[in-house]
Amino acid sequence: MAFPESFLQELKLRNDITDVVSSYVNLKRRGRNMVGLCPFHGEKTPSFNIYTENGSFYCFGCGTGGDVITFIMRIENLDYLDAVKFLAQRAGLELPEDSYDDSMSRLRLKIFEANREAARFYYDSLYQSSGKQGLDYLHGRALSDKTIRRFGLGFADDSWSSLCSHLRSKGFSDSELVAANLAVKHKNGNGIYDRFRNRVMFPIIDIRGNVIAFGGRIMADEKPKYLNTSDTPVFKKSTNLFSLNNAKNSGSRTLILCEGYMDVIAVNQAGFANAVATLGTALTAEQAMLMKRYADEVIICYDADEAGQKATARAISILRNSGLSVRVVNIPNGKDPDEFIRSHGSDGPAAFRAVIENCGNDIEYRLSKLKKQFNTEITDGKIAYLEEAAKIVSAISSPIEQDIYASRLSSELGIEKEAFLRQVKKLDRKNQRELRSKQMRKIRSDLNGTTDRINTEHRKQPRSSSAEEALVVHMINNPDSANEIANLLTADKFSNSLIKRYYVYFLNRIQSGLEPLTNISADFTGDEISKLYQLINRYSRVTSTPQAMREYIDVILDEDSKLTEDKISSMSPQELSEYIARLKKNKQ
Ligand code: CTP
Ligand code: MN
Repeated sequence: MAFPESFLQELKLRNDITDVVSSYVNLKRRGRNMVGLCPFHGEKTPSFNIYTENGSFYCFGCGTGGDVITFIMRIENLDYLDAVKFLAQRAGLELPEDSYDDSMSRLRLKIFEANREAARFYYDSLYQSSGKQGLDYLHGRALSDKTIRRFGLGFADDSWSSLCSHLRSKGFSDSELVAANLAVKHKNGNGIYDRFRNRVMFPIIDIRGNVIAFGGRIMADEKPKYLNTSDTPVFKKSTNLFSLNNAKNSGSRTLILCEGYMDVIAVNQAGFANAVATLGTALTAEQAMLMKRYADEVIICYDADEAGQKATARAISILRNSGLSVRVVNIPNGKDPDEFIRSHGSDGPAAFRAVIENCGNDIEYRLSKLKKQFNTEITDGKIAYLEEAAKIVSAISSPIEQDIYASRLSSELGIEKEAFLRQVKKLDRKNQRELRSKQMRKIRSDLNGTTDRINTEHRKQPRSSSAEEALVVHMINNPDSANEIANLLTADKFSNSLIKRYYVYFLNRIQSGLEPLTNISADFTGDEISKLYQLINRYSRVTSTPQAMREYIDVILDEDSKLTEDKISSMSPQELSEYIARLKKNKQ
């Protein structure tokens, strides 16, 4: 089942890719195209291109590409059907009925409903006698009823079946509860039981207000301390952040990034609605890009322990790479934010505010950590420290900022600022050289396909693959040539199975009288679509002539016959005679 072509054409016509993308990315005109900073990876110079003539986008930095539907799927984290619905709604178009399979979409809706109902059930349980334990626990951690309500915290009792029976009575099926990961199947295959038992519950809510998952904390000193929803059709932990739903409405362009649920909640209760946390995983680039949509600056507020400091160093570089400014809080006395606030009693909010207001940026944080490793009272220690410090300062792109740190370090350590700056400039040049040669290596490997994860066969048959790629792009750009190509060449002559799939798909569309690129999102994976647009953009830069087209075909046929020779020479006598028999049969 698929959407009618006419509907998809209308959808694309009414959702101009430049319009749609501009609500997420600042675009500037460059020649015939528009360019901007890629929303799918961190970068400082724009390599994200919009091609208005064929309604596509492609990023030369991270290799993501596609049409307007693919763009919405990626940026809004939606599946194909929901992305089409999103764009239809945006353009005020009705979805044609019965033309698509919406079973996945219906299941997702059911999971949202089940999660919302579960959150309500867990919350209500807190205020019943059976949930007293949970409420006492939360109060014991200094959370007010107002905070508990704001976050919709709750309690899952120890009965193994309370939630399941409640949700069944509301009409949910067992398989829906399992899909939502609210229930688990018995090993012996008979029935299901509650996944979360005897835990206080933290609902995880996305930016649209849907309850997408839960974290549950055991109240005793047992393991696992936290149990989280596994990935489901509505939840992927590496792409979501706890409490971003609150933080995005906080009115601030700064986010406070904590390690845990309780930290975020305590920080909120202390008056900062702009706190978020990852969900029991190390920070990912996707989460950083998500933050970038709502913030310009992130204050890292991780635990003061060693693990927290390691995680801080990692987070600094991920956030910086996403184009965010970074500050780092050093929480005194080895505490986490929640413990720190609580330890100050009623002065907690003020004490935390002071910590936030006084925290330095990521460079200051790294310099002060570095300094602790050296004895700067002695000359050798001073030199060693300054050499390492120059590395940190040389990584800063603004010369003004570099100058500021040079001044500070020179007065702090009694050295000449110019000498330090010379060292920085030397490293600067080295960094530049390394960056350039890294870029060159990438361009080279892109060109010969050695590191291509998607089009893996290119490397094995570079000559035929290149001709096949160029031919498919030629056919997409010149649909009139499709019949001639099909007469000169059959699909089995293709050496590269991915390019063959593109060929068969587009030939079929063109021969059915369809616009080649109107409808691809449903038939290929996201990576395969990106690869296709990479090829389209690479090969479209030179105009392809009918003459060139025949040359591509010659190369493909030539490589195919070579391949056959190779095959023949390695055949056993038995295989050889079978092969000859087949040839004879084909001739008849
Ligand atoms: N976490 C998890 N699974 C665990 C332990 C931790 O998912 N078994 C995640 C949770 O999101 C938790 C965060 O990692 O909030 C930080 O863990 P930790 O520092 O151990 O806990 P705290 O946040 O300090 O929790 P609490 O204050 O309740 O002890
Ligand atoms: Mn804690």
